[in-house]
Amino acid sequence: MITPASETYLLTRAEQPGSHTIEVFKRLGGYAAIEKVLKQGISRSDVTTEVKNSGLRGRGGAGFPTGLKWTFMPDPEKDPRTRYMAVNADESEPGTCKDRVLMREDPHGLIEGCLLAAYAMQLSAVYIYVRGEYRVPYDRLQAAIDEARAANLVGENILGTDFSCEIHMHKGAGAYICGEETGLMESLEGKRGHPRPKPPFPAGFGLWGQPTTVNNVESIFNVPFIINKGAQWFRGMGTEASPGNFLCGISGHVNRPGIYEVPLGISAETILNEYAGGVWKGRKLKGWFPGGSSTGILPAEMISTAMDHDSIKGVGSMFGTGAMIILDETACTVRASRVLAHFYDHESCGQCSQCREGTQWLYQIFARIEAGKGEVGDLEALERISKQMAPGKTICALADAAAIPTLAVLRHFHDELEAHIREGCCPLRSKGEGGQSQSAQEVHA
Ligand SMILES: Cc1cc2nc3c(=O)[nH]c(=O)nc-3n(C[C@H](O)[C@H](O)[C@H](O)COP(=O)(O)O)c2cc1C
Ligand code: SF4
Repeated sequence: MITPASETYLLTRAEQPGSHTIEVFKRLGGYAAIEKVLKQGISRSDVTTEVKNSGLRGRGGAGFPTGLKWTFMPDPEKDPRTRYMAVNADESEPGTCKDRVLMREDPHGLIEGCLLAAYAMQLSAVYIYVRGEYRVPYDRLQAAIDEARAANLVGENILGTDFSCEIHMHKGAGAYICGEETGLMESLEGKRGHPRPKPPFPAGFGLWGQPTTVNNVESIFNVPFIINKGAQWFRGMGTEASPGNFLCGISGHVNRPGIYEVPLGISAETILNEYAGGVWKGRKLKGWFPGGSSTGILPAEMISTAMDHDSIKGVGSMFGTGAMIILDETACTVRASRVLAHFYDHESCGQCSQCREGTQWLYQIFARIEAGKGEVGDLEALERISKQMAPGKTICALADAAAIPTLAVLRHFHDELEAHIREGCCPLRSKGEGGQSQSAQEVHA
């Protein structure tokens, strides 16, 4: 039986036919929040305060409070520079595909969120940076912007007021690093997506050197609901420190992979068993990533952990994007680590030596262990390299994203890694359970 979230709001419109059109969106109460703000003359600072009071935390990975981030933008009275927001729709974290659903099924919801953010922070323009592979979401969003413009909701003098805001789309070209906020801005400016050292932070020196806020799609999508129904309503869902619902994408070895709307604080076990139908093929759970591949694997015993920022941190991982990846008992953690290490090695931009060299070494060591050529000392080397990469030792957190899963697999699956080296092959395969490992030739091909 599926236990529904006590109240859902993120996906309710998306379930209606034609939900991507302005007609259906308006019929279901869309654009009421921006109309309320503009027609009732609600002040810009009151909009920011409401978002701040709601306790909404960013859904892009770091969980930073959204309203607080908005207050970092300089006071326009003292700093009259042009101001922007970049909406991060690059969504490349392995296991994560929630923003795709929002943009594809409910693009006007994101546009309304952008308008409210633009009003609150006095932005001249919003840039939506969409993952290049997201063709249908991109087209739906562009069509929705066109519809909104025709309805005087985007552009000059919105709804006959003195509030004006442009919304522009930008297509990514398949680089994970362009999801990192400063890499994203570089890419938007037409340059190579190399992250910038911080400080200066985007609020002081962002797009084209102007004050800029970067927010994730789902973060911004929450805003119209908060303005319509109030911060207290929002705080009625989730936990004290992590309020609201979130979109949990659950994938891997489950019966019903998908995107589910659940309140923060729900147990991972409930999501796995009641929403995703449990581990597939009647097998047992081996391990799970709570929020995308960068968050580090947790063992089956920890599946009762609550899915909120503090609880997941309490068991040594991170909430991340809330995208759970499930591994059943036949999965080889060496192989999983090698696949991920390859991804991070491929996606490193190469600016920092710890990341450029470290990601390459992690991949090579996992590959040789998987190929049955692991050496005594490899596990110590993995740990030493990871600790040289993170935390916070490089320009951006991609190095952390590669090191954290490595340290986690060493912590929770040390015996399995050791057995690979000792036996010269996957211990699951030798017991006839697994067989998912590739041969040495395949790995090195
Ligand atoms: C390597 C890397 C990739 C990232 N990719 C994304 C992404 O695809 N989407 C996203 O929203 N945030 C991504 N982030 C996080 C962003 O840098 C930033 O924290 C986020 O967009 C802020 O939005 P939020 O405060 O609304 O969560 C990534 C971070 C790193 C280090
Ligand atoms: S940590 Fe890695 S991806 Fe990030 S800037 Fe340094 S080299 Fe590039």
